[in-house]
Amino acid sequence: MPTALIDGRELELGEHERLNGIEAARRLGIEIPHYCWHPGLSVVGSCRMCLVEVGMRDPKTGQISMLPRLVPACNTPVRDGTVLVTNSEKVQRARAMVEEDLLLRHPIDCPICDKAGECRLQDYHFTYGQEQRRADIRPFTSRRRDVGSEITLFVDRCIMCSRCVRFCREISGTSELLVVQRGAHEEIDVLPDFPLNNKLSGNVVDLCPVGALCDKNFLYRQRVWYLKSHPGVCTGCAIGCSTWIDENQDHVWRIRPRENLAVNRWWICNDGRYDYPHVHSDQRILVPRRRDGEAWTDLSWNGLIRELDSRLRQAGRIGVVLSPFLTVEEAFLLASYARQVDPQAVIVVGHVPVVDEDERFPGGFIIAAEKCPNRRGVEAIASRMMGRVLAWEAFLGEVSSLGLRGLWVSGGYKRPWIDEATVDRLRGLELLIVQDLFPSPLTERADYVLPAAAFPERDGSYVNRNDHLQSVRWAIRPPRGVRPEGSVFWELLGRSGLYDAPGALRELAAEIGYFHLALGTIPEGGVNLKTNLLA
Ligand code: FES
Repeated sequence: MPTALIDGRELELGEHERLNGIEAARRLGIEIPHYCWHPGLSVVGSCRMCLVEVGMRDPKTGQISMLPRLVPACNTPVRDGTVLVTNSEKVQRARAMVEEDLLLRHPIDCPICDKAGECRLQDYHFTYGQEQRRADIRPFTSRRRDVGSEITLFVDRCIMCSRCVRFCREISGTSELLVVQRGAHEEIDVLPDFPLNNKLSGNVVDLCPVGALCDKNFLYRQRVWYLKSHPGVCTGCAIGCSTWIDENQDHVWRIRPRENLAVNRWWICNDGRYDYPHVHSDQRILVPRRRDGEAWTDLSWNGLIRELDSRLRQAGRIGVVLSPFLTVEEAFLLASYARQVDPQAVIVVGHVPVVDEDERFPGGFIIAAEKCPNRRGVEAIASRMMGRVLAWEAFLGEVSSLGLRGLWVSGGYKRPWIDEATVDRLRGLELLIVQDLFPSPLTERADYVLPAAAFPERDGSYVNRNDHLQSVRWAIRPPRGVRPEGSVFWELLGRSGLYDAPGALRELAAEIGYFHLALGTIPEGGVNLKTNLLA
């Protein structure tokens, strides 16, 4: 087995593994500070923060010979016999000098900088920097440059790691950002009339290790130490990127990518990043309502579930529409309830919004045309329970011949999705229950309108278009009056206690073979259900 030696500890390497010094050290829990290196970008080795001592061990004699100079760990492949020393005095002195050099020109404007609290320059200074500053602190300048519709650049804070420039060349493939001037005068800039407006531009803010590139949507709105980060899944399209939802007191302030090599690697698109204002919209449906003749009556949840249950049982022949915005647990519970009321209940896969075509970027990132997170999961449930996948559009064609008397339509749509003409095709139902985020022509025609939960308020799992299942917990509490769908369906089924999403997933996995792998512990990055089908 090839073996490297890092700070005196052995690290076994896989046969064909290609790690650099930073990655190899990380395997042993040793953090080598770095600015310019990022696992998703090419290596430039320019910041010199990752300098380490490097040598080779003779496989026969075991004798170690070290290079006389320090080398960047990011640019050092670790092979059999490689020796790294990351904690010697020489290394520590080099790091302190790099920090001192960067801080000579860096404005000390941390109290007004958006990055304070998550700034690498700040953190590394306290961990690796000198205790005392030898240069004078001069009044700082904060030259600000508008580089795009979402992004602003604080020129003097930049440490010229060039991550943002490489991102635009290698991942988005748009090359808007470039380095102008030379030496100590180097700056990041855009060309006139060619701003940073690509659909992945927000990622440069996450990549920036200091507060140079800032997001205009977040600038000066929250201090990061007030935010709590929750793992989430983007519901903007069928890719289901892993995200961090940053909230403070039940208000979402920021969405960032969460590393998931099986789904989105380190990136998300701007559509997903800025897809949360609807959560706090004052247009949301917040109270359950019942139509009484021409008038509407606001209801409380007290006794409402019993009332809905008895109305559905009276209707006898019913159908349910499983929205592709529901989690698989919610869809399973609603479909199970429908089958309990009417063993022949019609189970429909809700409207799947599609906008244009997939957008593909040179770095491999894809924005799917299908603008919902869980069509695949909901289809798997519907096809098992119904024996076929009955899509919304096909259902509208068949509805008059199905003899339905009651229909429950789950929604959760963030944008308008249904028109008057479509609603007209649902005429003749005795009971129409609609659960959605916003009023629509369908809610106007309903007998009961129930508020739906927004994506950060839900517990459960989504299956992306590549059969990858990810489970998340709620990040914020829903507004008063809103009960997440899972809890409503749980009570409809007559279950006691609080809605238990992991329990519902286990039940689903035991019943439907497609979800079988979800029976075990689901890793943080999710599990691919297709592996199960292939096995
Ligand atoms: Fe290695 Fe910048 S991280 S030189």
